[in-house]
Amino acid sequence: MNQKTWGGRFTDGTDARVEAFTESISFDRRLYRHDIIASQAHARMLAEVGLLTATEAEQIVSSLEEIGAEIEAGKMEFSISLEDIHTHLERRLIEKLGDVGRKLHTARSRNDQVVTALKLWTRDAIDELDALLAELQKAFVESAEREAGVIIPGYTHLQRAQPVLAAHYFLAYVEKLQRDRDRLRDCRARVNVLPLGAAALAGTSLPINRESVRAKLSSDSVARNSLDVSSDRDFALEFVFCLALIATHLSGWAEEWVIWSTTEFNFLDLPDAFCTGSSIMPHKKNPDVLELTRGKSGRVIGALQQLFVLVKGLPLAYNRDLQEDKPAIFDAFDTVAGCLSVAAPLVRQTKLRREVIASRLEAGFLDATTLMESLIARGVPMRSAHEAVGNLVRECEKRKCRLAELPDSMFEAVAPGQSVAIKSSLGVSNALTAFKSYGSTAPAEVERQLREWKERLS
Ligand code: ARG
Repeated sequence: MNQKTWGGRFTDGTDARVEAFTESISFDRRLYRHDIIASQAHARMLAEVGLLTATEAEQIVSSLEEIGAEIEAGKMEFSISLEDIHTHLERRLIEKLGDVGRKLHTARSRNDQVVTALKLWTRDAIDELDALLAELQKAFVESAEREAGVIIPGYTHLQRAQPVLAAHYFLAYVEKLQRDRDRLRDCRARVNVLPLGAAALAGTSLPINRESVRAKLSSDSVARNSLDVSSDRDFALEFVFCLALIATHLSGWAEEWVIWSTTEFNFLDLPDAFCTGSSIMPHKKNPDVLELTRGKSGRVIGALQQLFVLVKGLPLAYNRDLQEDKPAIFDAFDTVAGCLSVAAPLVRQTKLRREVIASRLEAGFLDATTLMESLIARGVPMRSAHEAVGNLVRECEKRKCRLAELPDSMFEAVAPGQSVAIKSSLGVSNALTAFKSYGSTAPAEVERQLREWKERLS
């Protein structure tokens, strides 16, 4: 007997090479749970509109439940001759229920079925990611609390720029991760539109009730245009874009901490459990987790590229090319979920080397910009103040000293009568406390934001 769901039209069987080439069961089997849920909702709706009896629907629902358990127990036999998870589930249902099983696919096509299962899977994936992102945010907030009061150098161009509170630094990552969560929530709104009921491409002449299926699957709305449905992978691209941006955020952070853990910087004490050693150099403690986090971002960005190229030339409606969406989506998700789940404990267990940071904090003129601002506050035009401080820094470079160590006369020349006040506000600690603006590293500002984040994430 021809095992294919579409066997009726065919006389000859499929070439074995074609079966191997066209199968998707090797990767789409992970959709089994979501496909079952969608099929159960579909069967119940079919009974409501009289296309199945209530008993038939219940038989289908409970048999699908059993099939799900069989899969979870490793009892399901997968075969490339049945192409994909959708066909496997239907075939097994027919084995169990005979003609009743043969009714499930009424008013449905694999075209709307596959995208429905993928959307339901993506919805869950988004919720999982949201929890992982929140966990990493909490880890950064805990670091901000633990290192409260510690001042670190802030960098631009990786050159010393201005002092910042360590708490301010950690909260910067909390902000990025919040945007990642917001973006995923926004993407979820488009994921949660129900394709099922679009059938092959044009809808169906049978009296289905799509609204009923929508309610059963907790979707927000029903996709309006049946022709759009099966070619629409916008949601998948958006989702993978969100993943690529998370991976990019993580990569930047990982790079920073790789640098910070060098002997040259020595800002961080990375936990042993998150580092690895060298097979030849006995002294080494390598930040492999951070390096791999940085490296894996390439895979996720690549997946986004892959999806764009996949869909860019596709006409409406379903085209078999679309089967290739899943490996990219799954790999991007697995990669980012993996990165996030090691990032949170790594952050929690990493400590700043406070003494090392403090011992070199006065190097690099972190107070120069605040000095300039104090001149501006005393009426010196900005450009003149900039030039004057630039000259003072040049003088310091010559004398190999800090700004605070220059003679009073040099400040007197810049701000007559105010040199004492100005000089006493120099130094990194003074510079730090001088900050005032909203969102700045001003201690009161950082403390307020830390409090707000703690409350928001609790
Ligand atoms: N295995 C296919 C996929 O993953 C299922 C849809 C096939 N539809 C079709 N008309 N051949 O996309």
